[in-house]
Formats: sequence, structure tokens, C-alpha cells
Amino acid sequence: MSHRSRVIVNASLVCVWLAACESPDSGITSPAPPSPDATGSSGLLASTTLGDPFANLTAAELALFNAGKVEFEAVEAIDEGLGPVFNEASCATCHNAPVGGTTGRKETRFGRIVNSAFDPMTEVGGSLIQDHGIGLVTTATGSFTFIGEVVPTGAAVTAGRITTQLFGLGLVDAVPDEELVQLARLQAAVSPATAGTPSITTEIRTGRTRVGRFGWKAQVPTLFQFSGDAYLNEMGITNPEFPNENCPQGDCSALAFNPRPDLNDDGTGVTKFSDFMTLLAPPPRGNLSLEVLEGSGIFAIIGCANCHTPALVTGRSPVAALSNKVFQPYSDFLLHDMGALGDRIAQGSATGRQMRTAPLWGVRTRSLLLHDGRATSLAAAILAHDGQGREARERFLRLSPGARFVLLQFVRSL
Ligand code: HEC
Ligand code: HEC
Repeated sequence: MSHRSRVIVNASLVCVWLAACESPDSGITSPAPPSPDATGSSGLLASTTLGDPFANLTAAELALFNAGKVEFEAVEAIDEGLGPVFNEASCATCHNAPVGGTTGRKETRFGRIVNSAFDPMTEVGGSLIQDHGIGLVTTATGSFTFIGEVVPTGAAVTAGRITTQLFGLGLVDAVPDEELVQLARLQAAVSPATAGTPSITTEIRTGRTRVGRFGWKAQVPTLFQFSGDAYLNEMGITNPEFPNENCPQGDCSALAFNPRPDLNDDGTGVTKFSDFMTLLAPPPRGNLSLEVLEGSGIFAIIGCANCHTPALVTGRSPVAALSNKVFQPYSDFLLHDMGALGDRIAQGSATGRQMRTAPLWGVRTRSLLLHDGRATSLAAAILAHDGQGREARERFLRLSPGARFVLLQFVRSL
């Protein structure tokens, strides 16, 4: 076992049993939960500090965060490149409440199965739907009305994907690929029935093969790359790594009427989104109690922690707040075969049944759970676990009501 995996195992165990790794040696500096005095309540309203940057940024980093946030909230106009088809005009329309979070705006992907392989039906605008269009455009040669895309006939697979929270993702970005690869090896040796697989992706900036970690299928390797991807695919803003407009419902001839056929963003916007997300602090930990402590033990014993890995460690980063830090996302960022819970969309190296372990930090602040938002309670989300998650689900079902309660209290404390 390498030094690196020992670090992970030790950190995980310590965190599972103590349930709190915001100890001085963890280096995590997320804002402390508000005191009962400040909130006039139990202190569970820690979400009031969601959306803050890391507390210990330099003045220059804080300036980058603030400028990035302004860009993240900016509403793009058609003459700035919005569309011709898009989902919303601003990152913050979906990642909101507070900015960087989510109220669960859902998107739709579609496709079909041909010879048992997934076909994203790109010729009719798949797999991601852009549900808005910029409307009537008139040029010297004629006019065209851009409308939102719809699921075409012939699509046998449709899947909803809700918007995720972006809190703390700079830490996830700073985890070395090697650590995730080692974690998968460790799982294969220690808990093979639930072992995950690294998502294999290409980093466009370097052309290198990287371990994906962002998105419900871990389909994207870096925050920078997700920024360019989202700018194009959510807003229709072309940028250096994503220079080609989406053809509306697959009709590329319609792009003759695109009012902004030039490159819409020179990379400035993409960099700013990435700065904002990189420096956005993780969700503050909720209240600790004896119940929560007990629940953390059950979480480990019934196998939740096999996939929802309590702690990871970042590598070296030029940003001190992100460098060599232990943090607690409660995810391994690996792909797992979730059986019937899979969304049937193959994406990157993920099969239709494979999904990324959803991080559980901040889950208490959300009302819609699972990739398509089908669950409105923690218990419902757990009961939908299938495939490699089925055994943990069965163990959850066999818990006494008291044990189930403390487990859920623990998940609500993350
Ligand atoms: C129409 C709503 C919408 C808009 C607008 C939008 N997003 Fe998202 N975002 C989503 C959804 C849905 C997901 C989950 C996507 C998936 O995995 O398929 C997501 C995921 C992400 C992730 C991955 C986070 C994780 O959990 O791994 C990042 C990073 C991100 N978005 C950044 C951005 C940025 C930057 C912008 C603006 C350029 C943006 N988003 C605009 C809906 C949106
Ligand atoms: C085999 C790996 C695995 C195991 C074991 C597992 N989970 Fe999960 N969990 C996942 C994956 C993958 C998802 C995302 C599913 C999806 O895409 O909808 C998830 C999602 C969740 C969610 C919803 C989070 C969100 O963002 O919507 C909760 C809550 C959750 N798990 C709790 C638990 C608990 C509690 C246990 C133990 C009883 C457990 N999980 C065991 C892999 C696992």
C-alpha cells in the first residue's frame, strides 16, 4: 500500500469515528456554524454562510473571487452571443439560493439504444436539450425563428438531471488523479462488491487523459473545463475550448441565422467562472451531537462510507487555502453501477448504469435529491439505491427506527 492510500484510510477512519474533521490539523477553514445567539435557533441554519469564499484568501484571491462572482451572475444578451439555443442566460439562474447553490433546475438528456449501445442522437440535437431559443432573427437573406429543443420522436431514453451545488469544488479540483486511482484500487481490495471506477476523460487544455470528477457522471475533469462546457451548452456562448455552436434540434443549416457566429468569449468569462468556483468555500458543517456521532458509526458499519468516502486530501496548489488540505465531501468521485438508479445515458467512460457517488456535504440544504430530483427526503434517496448500492439500502431497511434516525441526523450534519 502506498503512502498516499495510507493517508486516505487513516483520515477516513478518524473522520468517520469523530464525525468532525474541522480540527486544527485538518487545515479546513470553512466558516464556523453560527452560534445559537446569532441565529436565535439551534444553529442548524448554518446555510446563512453558504456562498462565502474561503475565509483565509489573500487580498488578490478575494478580488478574483468577487470579480468571478459578478461574471457568474451576469445575464448574457443575444448580442453578446447568447443562444441561438440555450437553457438559461446566466450561470446563477440555475446555481442559486445562494449563488453557487441550487434549487434543482432540471435539464433533460435523451437518446436511444442501438444494438445495445447508447446513441446520443446528435443529428436531432441530443443528448442535452437546450430548452430555450432566441426567437425571430431576420437577415438580408431571410428570417428564422429559434425555438427551444424538445425530445424528438424515436428517443427511447430520457433522463432528468438536476443542478448541483458548487460549494467547495476547488478542493475537489485540487485532488490529484493518482489519489482517486489509488482509492479505486483500495476499494477493489477491501470492499470489492461496492468498488468504484475512475471516470476516464480528456483534459482539453493539456490533451492529457485525466480522472473526471465533475457532473453526475463525473464526465468532466476540471472546473475550468466545466466552465467552458457550461458556457456553450447551457448558454450558447462559444469559447476557445468549445468553439462550435449547438445545432438547434440538430439542424446545422439554421446556424446561417446565428446573429453572433464569431467566437463569443475569448476565454475571459470562462476563467472568471472558474476563479469564482475554485475559491467558493465548502458548506459549513452542521451541528454535532451525540446522536450525530452515533450515526457516523452506523454510516460506516452499514457500508455507506464505502462510496461516500468521508475525507480526501488535496495536492499542492498555488492557492494556500486549497493546498494539502483534508476535506470532507463524503464522496469518492468514482463511478458505481447503480442498477435501476442509473440514468441509461452513456457519457464519457460512464455506462448507462454508472453514476458518480453524489457528495453528501451540504445535502441538508437541498430539497430535491438524486440525479433527476425524484427523491424529496433522505430516506427516499437511500431507498432508491440499487446495483452496488443495494446491499447498503437493505441494511438501512433492517436498522431499528432509532438507529435509522441517528444515521439520518448524521447525514443532516454534513
Ligand atoms: C440551465 C441550468 C444551468 C445553467 C445555466 C448552468 N448550469 Fe451548471 N449545472 C447544471 C446542471 C443540471 C448540472 C449537472 C449536469 C450534469 O451532470 O449533467 C450542472 C453542473 C455544473 C458543474 C459540476 C458540478 C459538480 O457537482 O460536479 C459545474 C462546475 C457547473 N455546473 C458550472 C456552471 C457554470 C460555470 C455555468 C455558467 C457558465 C453553469 N454551470 C450554468 C445546470 C446549469
Ligand atoms: C455503491 C456506492 C454507494 C453506496 C454503498 C451508497 N451510496 Fe449513496 N449514492 C451513490 C451514488 C452513485 C449516488 C448518486 C445517485 C444518482 O445519480 O442519482 C448516491 C446518492 C445518495 C444520496 C443523494 C444525494 C444527492 O445529492 O442527491 C444520498 C442522501 C445518499 N446517497 C446516501 C447514502 C447512504 C445513507 C448510504 C448508506 C445507507 C449510501 N448512500 C450508500 C453511491 C452509493
